[in-house]
Amino acid sequence: MAASVDGDRGGSAHLLDTAQAEVVVGIDRLFEQHLTVPADPRERLYQAMRHAAIAGGKRLRPLLVRAAGDLFHVDRSSSLQVGAAVEAMHVYSLIHDDLPCMDDDDIRRGKPTVHRAFDEATAVLAGDSLHALAFEWLCDPATHGDPFVRGELVLELARAAGPAGMAGGQMMDLAAETSHFDLPTVTRLQQLKTGALIAFSVEAGAILGRIPAEGRRPLRAYARDIGLAFQIADDIMDVEGDEALAGKALHKDDAAGKATFVTLMGIERAREQATMLVDQAIAHLAGFGEEAALLRAIAYYVVERDR
Ligand code: IPE
Ligand code: IPE
Ligand code: MG
Ligand code: MG
Ligand code: MG
Repeated sequence: MAASVDGDRGGSAHLLDTAQAEVVVGIDRLFEQHLTVPADPRERLYQAMRHAAIAGGKRLRPLLVRAAGDLFHVDRSSSLQVGAAVEAMHVYSLIHDDLPCMDDDDIRRGKPTVHRAFDEATAVLAGDSLHALAFEWLCDPATHGDPFVRGELVLELARAAGPAGMAGGQMMDLAAETSHFDLPTVTRLQQLKTGALIAFSVEAGAILGRIPAEGRRPLRAYARDIGLAFQIADDIMDVEGDEALAGKALHKDDAAGKATFVTLMGIERAREQATMLVDQAIAHLAGFGEEAALLRAIAYYVVERDR
């Protein structure tokens, strides 16, 4: 769905580029700090985590934590810490998603997948370790001074990653190769597989800002819509994207006989649906002013990206 961002959007692409560049640098720095390689037999495990986590990816989830946190004047270092935690969870999900027992992929973020660069056992353990580290980093007092805030972040990330979130969605995704799922079922699958961690990222900004659940409703609605739009874009990219740009193998969903938005709706309707969801996501931010400009820019980006 590549297209030039901005046009009449008055500088939103610049705003996005600047924020994303800062987040990319900040996340790499935190991973460097947290993943220092020990001089003992665990060295290989740390090297595998670093291979997967450092210097790669769009860092969309940490960007969302920052954009939502900015609405409530959350300290940027807090947003970045939570961003590193959710990115660690995401990277773990990618390492395991690429394993031979799942999607059996050789390339991720333009590099060999972890089980290719290392071996399968190391890839499983690198994923397990990043999963655990995500919670450890959320519990660090540097994340937020209030233990209740940290507790809520831990609970919400656990929900988003577990059987009622990403892992449950991955189970449904595997079943989508052999079962005939209808549109509501595929929508639910995608909301769990991809939407849950995206929703956590947005909500985390509000949790850090101590916004009560009631006040988070527009952000939740925004996150639900961009999460679905993001996955529709991923499914479209699988059909018509450029592997060199995407940094991963494409044309896999159809080959696996997997039900996706594209197989169910056709590519044109899927594209229209994604655009509609972006408009709807932005409409949910109507109560916010200029402070939500980055969230609006991210909504366009999730469908216009080419990687
Ligand atoms: C890829 O996620 C996996 C899906 C959830 C579709 P991203 O498209 O965010 O991948 P990176 O983090 O930029 O590599
Ligand atoms: C993976 O979905 C989603 C998660 C890792 C939770 P996909 O299998 O569609 O992601 P890609 O296309 O390999 O990035
Ligand atoms: Mg998969
Ligand atoms: Mg995959
Ligand atoms: Mg995909």
